[in-house]
Order: sequence, then C-alpha cells, then structure tokens
Amino acid sequence: MKLVKLIANLGYGSRKQVTLMFREGRITDDGGEVLYADDAVAHARVRVDGEPLDPPQGLLLMLHKPTGYTCSTKDPGRVVYDLLPPRYRLRDPLLSTVGRLDRDTSGLLLMTDDGALLHRITSPKAQLPKVYEAVLGSDLRGDEAEVFGSGTLMLESEKTPLAPALIEPLDARRARITLVEGRYHQIRRMFAAVGNHVHSLHRHTLGGLGLDGLPAGEWRMLDEADRARLFGGDVS
Ligand code: URA
Repeated sequence: MKLVKLIANLGYGSRKQVTLMFREGRITDDGGEVLYADDAVAHARVRVDGEPLDPPQGLLLMLHKPTGYTCSTKDPGRVVYDLLPPRYRLRDPLLSTVGRLDRDTSGLLLMTDDGALLHRITSPKAQLPKVYEAVLGSDLRGDEAEVFGSGTLMLESEKTPLAPALIEPLDARRARITLVEGRYHQIRRMFAAVGNHVHSLHRHTLGGLGLDGLPAGEWRMLDEADRARLFGGDVS
C-alpha cells in the first residue's frame, strides 16, 4: 500500500491533507530522512512529526471506561472515542468497541479494528467470562444465585433464556456477577427481574484480562501476551 493511503487510513487526514504533510516534510523515516508519498518504507520506520506511526490494522486496546461515556460514534454526548487520540475515530477499517458497556457502567472495555478478533471475543462459543461488581438499590433477597444460575431466566422481549450466571454476594447490597454472554443491559435487567435495581456497575475482567490499576479514562495497547491472557492461554 502506498504510504499516503496507509497514513490516511490511520486517520491522520484525508489523502489530500496527508499529501500536504509529505510536501511539508513532516513525514520522515526513523533516521530523520524526509519521505515521499510513493516511497516504500516499513510501517515501523515511519515517523510523523518525529513520532512513530500508530499501529497498523489489527490493533487491540483496553480502555478503562468511566461512567458518563457511551460506546458510540454518533451520540451527541460524551463517547468513548473522546478518550483516545482524535484520529483513532477516523481510522479505516473502523475501530469498534468489543461489545458495549452502558453509559452508566464503568470498567474494562476492549476496542479493535479486527473484525475476526472481535467476533472471536464476543462469539457465544468463546464463553469468555466477564466479571462485574454491582451496587444494588435494595438488599439481596437470597434466591438470586438460584434464579441467575438456573439457565431458565427469561428477560422481557428475549426469545431464549439466559445462560447460567454466577453471583457472589459481597455484602447486603453488593455482588460480583460473572456472565458468559452479553445481552442488552443484561445485569440491570437480571436484577429488575428479581425486584431489585442496579445503582452502579463496574466490569473488572474480561476473559483473563483485568484493568491492573489502569486509571479511569486511560487506555493502553494490548500485546501478544495480553491476547493470550484474554483467551486464557499460557503467557509464560
Ligand atoms: N450489564 C448491564 O446491564 N450493563 C452493562 O453495561 C453490562 C452488563
């Protein structure tokens, strides 16, 4: 692929704007040599204003989503893309969230531009566990483990019952919930089905990945070891 197309696809600007960046000498190699739009140079050696290029297609990143942000490109309010460099919203192929967290849910959110990887993570076959902590509006009744674990709980407007989910009470109004699927507002609707309501919700882990101290609003690129951890593989 021509450098101009590659750089435009990474969201640095339209082809016209990137052509101008070449003319202005802003695109160089790792030795500071000015590059031209039709040069063939390895991705890892290209610099824009002296900075390495963003990763090529196939990236996977982890964001610690704060509450108040939606997993959408179009919402008029705060969106998770606002927490990334602005050009990440303009990448082609598109960078999408891996599943969604509600506006009022915080925690671990993955984003990728790799459709096959996205499918592999979200596919029901993957059975990747997702661990949440919920703070509830009312005390737990005591039968939630039985109801959520039954594999027969039907939520309104759903055609199939929920897969069994695990609930571990932490105190009267706090619980850890482990899901292997991700239906719309699932945990909020599960608690509504047992006469409770979710006050706040946070996702701690997805597969074998945790936030590991990543502060709210921050993100990091995931590497091969992270990917192995995500799918529960050996990372040693
Ligand atoms: N369940 C919910 O209700 N909301 C989320 O964001 C995730 C799981």
